[in-house]
Amino acid sequence: MQVTFKIWRQSNAEAKGSFKSYPIDGLSKDMSFLEALDHLNETLVLQDEEVIAFEYDCREGICGQCGVFINGRAHGPHDNTTTCQLHMRSFEDGSTIVVEPWRAAAFPVVKDLIVDRSGLDRIIEQGGFISAKTGTAPEANAILINKEVADKAMDAAACIGCGACVATCKNASAALFTSAKINHLNSLPQGKQEAVRRVLDMANQMDREGFGSCTFTGACQVECPEGISITNIAEMNALRLKAQLLG
Ligand code: FES
Repeated sequence: MQVTFKIWRQSNAEAKGSFKSYPIDGLSKDMSFLEALDHLNETLVLQDEEVIAFEYDCREGICGQCGVFINGRAHGPHDNTTTCQLHMRSFEDGSTIVVEPWRAAAFPVVKDLIVDRSGLDRIIEQGGFISAKTGTAPEANAILINKEVADKAMDAAACIGCGACVATCKNASAALFTSAKINHLNSLPQGKQEAVRRVLDMANQMDREGFGSCTFTGACQVECPEGISITNIAEMNALRLKAQLLG
């Protein structure tokens, strides 16, 4: 199959970027989207042109590194699918595919399709851990956890930190990411001890990083490849407000 990739090129954070079109032939509809970009880059190498910088690690929908906007949607046309899990059969032969990096003030472009998402790491540093002395690995059923609670924690823990929520939100809010990381620990007995401090520290860091405020449009939930629910945001906001009121 043949497509034209229209890709955002930007040499560094300060440079002015622009779209550049790359017609490319010889693609298979069974190629993943990233394999098609690899193919394009191999062609550019042969032409002595600079390759397109894009990020990935696992290529299995786990690590959250590969996010880009494809034809105006985070991670492309399908729900609950990361960019690396997308295949070329999702596009028409002969079509033009527009690829651009996440757009958010808190995610400055590093190069081409790569943005700096370290703001999310700094939010995690503030409370994405437990400090309870757990010793060696406990027997699996030593702490009995209600299934509903375990499911809720696991659903929140599914967040891969890709940043699609931030890039999709009109306010560039990181509330979905932050609340998922808070709730996956706060829901479980091991995370309860630091629950209040965790929500304050992580939410305050979210504000310091320059992410926008959440106005509950729900766009983040629609575009999240893991289907993280915005009920996490409601819980984070309620606990944060309560903690602030109680001092
Ligand atoms: S490369 Fe890891 S989620 Fe896509």
